[in-house]
Amino acid sequence: MTARMVRGEDALPSLAALRRRGSPIVMITAYDYPAGRIAEQAGADVVLVGDSAAMTVLGYSSTREVSVDELLVLTRAVRRGVRAIPIVGDLPFGSYEESDELAVASARRFVEEAGCDAVKLEGAGEMVPRVRAIIGAGIPVVGHVGLLPQSVTSPDGYRARGREVEQALAIIADASALEEAGCAAVVVEAVPSELGTLIAERLTIPVIGIGAGAATDGQVLVYHDLLGYGEGRAAKFVRRYADAHDEFVGAVRRWAEDVRLGRFPALEEGYGIDSAVLNAVRSKL
Ligand code: KIV
Repeated sequence: MTARMVRGEDALPSLAALRRRGSPIVMITAYDYPAGRIAEQAGADVVLVGDSAAMTVLGYSSTREVSVDELLVLTRAVRRGVRAIPIVGDLPFGSYEESDELAVASARRFVEEAGCDAVKLEGAGEMVPRVRAIIGAGIPVVGHVGLLPQSVTSPDGYRARGREVEQALAIIADASALEEAGCAAVVVEAVPSELGTLIAERLTIPVIGIGAGAATDGQVLVYHDLLGYGEGRAAKFVRRYADAHDEFVGAVRRWAEDVRLGRFPALEEGYGIDSAVLNAVRSKL
């Protein structure tokens, strides 16, 4: 990725090409090597190592608690598993808001230490200069508007955004400001479907929705949500394609039962030894 290739639709060209063809972009989160392999083998177009990892794999109660160092460990693992499609690293809470210098330094770590093709950050307004600074440093940026999980401080804060005129207009303006600043794509989270449509119609860069209706240029879901890999209630916009948590509990329970009943391991699950060797060992005991 060269410095002059990082603005707008030139920054993540494979996504821009899908948008131009009208082919929906498939983005999925991943937080480790096997999930990266699965995402790529399943045909995803781009992988996001989201700060949702804070809750899905690290067990924190919000995304505000995860650090750059923690996310970098996960991002490097995903990069080892994802070979042919871009990966986007999520700048966590506290790693970019304060200054352009901090934002650029954090973004650089995701590219240099974890091999990211782009970084994502939440918000517009005061974050627009941060976006410009990161892009100016040669790193593509994906924006994020609508519901901004890093700003949520209580469980009821996860409600949809943009249901009132002023807020809807502000979200549209935020998305346009991020495009204007040079973002490669924008994630739009938890807004009325019609608002997702309006944003996708106005922007010329890929608009990737999560709970933003069917008319955006692509969709993103959290890996653990779509696989049912975890406990708790999912957001309205999640469709579950598996019940991994229940299946895994069942599998581990069956194995535990086999151990307790002496059914595991079977003969063929152990290593053999030549009887002469065994006899020699026994004779020396
Ligand atoms: O962290 C994340 O998983 C995200 C998605 C919800 C887009 O930002």
